[in-house]
Amino acid sequence: MTTTTSSPSRVVVTGARGKLGRAVVAHLRDVGLDVLATDRVAGSDPREVDGEFLVVDLTDYGQVVEMLGGVDEHAPVDAVVHLAAIPAPGMTTNAATYANNSAATYNVFAAARAAGITKVVWASSETVLGLPFDTPPPYAPVDEEYAPRPESTYSLNKALEEEMAGHFCRWQPDLVAVGLRFSNVMDVEDYAQFPSFDADPQLRKWNLWGYIDARDGAQAVERALAHDVPGADVFVIANADTVMSRSSASLMAEVHPDVPITKELGEHETLLGIDKARRVLGYEPRHTWRDHVG
Ligand SMILES: NC(=O)c1ccc[n+]([C@@H]2O[C@H](COP(=O)([O-])OP(=O)(O)OC[C@H]3O[C@@H](n4cnc5c(N)ncnc54)[C@H](O)[C@@H]3O)[C@@H](O)[C@H]2O)c1
Repeated sequence: MTTTTSSPSRVVVTGARGKLGRAVVAHLRDVGLDVLATDRVAGSDPREVDGEFLVVDLTDYGQVVEMLGGVDEHAPVDAVVHLAAIPAPGMTTNAATYANNSAATYNVFAAARAAGITKVVWASSETVLGLPFDTPPPYAPVDEEYAPRPESTYSLNKALEEEMAGHFCRWQPDLVAVGLRFSNVMDVEDYAQFPSFDADPQLRKWNLWGYIDARDGAQAVERALAHDVPGADVFVIANADTVMSRSSASLMAEVHPDVPITKELGEHETLLGIDKARRVLGYEPRHTWRDHVG
């Protein structure tokens, strides 16, 4: 197995005005990376976004080429963090979700290849694990070892992006393409609602009671940017615990009694397995909602 030698120093982050993008841009700048933040949404004043910002619609290939290769006032980048998407099923029509998200991600991969960029980190999704689990998962904690089971057009596109990344890596053997299957993104303000989930285990069974603190999501992006093994790979990115006060074992016993449990579970241990991200990327969640809700 060969490894690449270049660590990125200048990174573009797409979807920078989004929930995850804001945290990722702030974190990558905090750790010293030179970040070009981009989004199709400028806001009332682009200068509201701290630091360098560029308006780009990723469905336009020419704009993506310029974004990566440099445009007036903005230097070329040497790595891509692609977060921009319509971020869930049902926000718009299925066809509009597919058209936006597939075009954006194809354009990012294709323009990165044309620019000779060898590191692309992008947001996949927990949904490819089979959410909302109307069909129970094959085992729990779920992980990267079984084939994607998309149950929506949004998720279908994420699964196709994972497949596409493998082919771009086949065409460009020095490409490192890291897909992060984020769980449901949470900001600290969201934690106040968590105790209300406790009364009904069905409320959050759709993602096995998982979540990702946006700051830990940003840490995962930082780790993925440091990953230097050529080829496409995917990682489940969740927090170490669930959103519930009840034990993870009791939740599975009540809601999915026939699903095999593959390990001895810690009391609140995540059922969205993050062992691979820990082992391969060195990802370790630092936050829990339990520190914010009394
Ligand atoms: N929010 C979640 O719970 C969650 C869970 C798993 C995966 N994800 C994925 O993480 C990523 C970020 O999600 P988020 O929650 O920050 O979403 P968000 O909606 O808050 O942010 C997404 C941003 O992408 C931008 N965007 C969309 N289409 C674009 C285009 N064609 N060109 C340029 N910009 C475009 C939007 O303007 C928006 O600012 C997405 O890829 C999403 O699918 C999100």
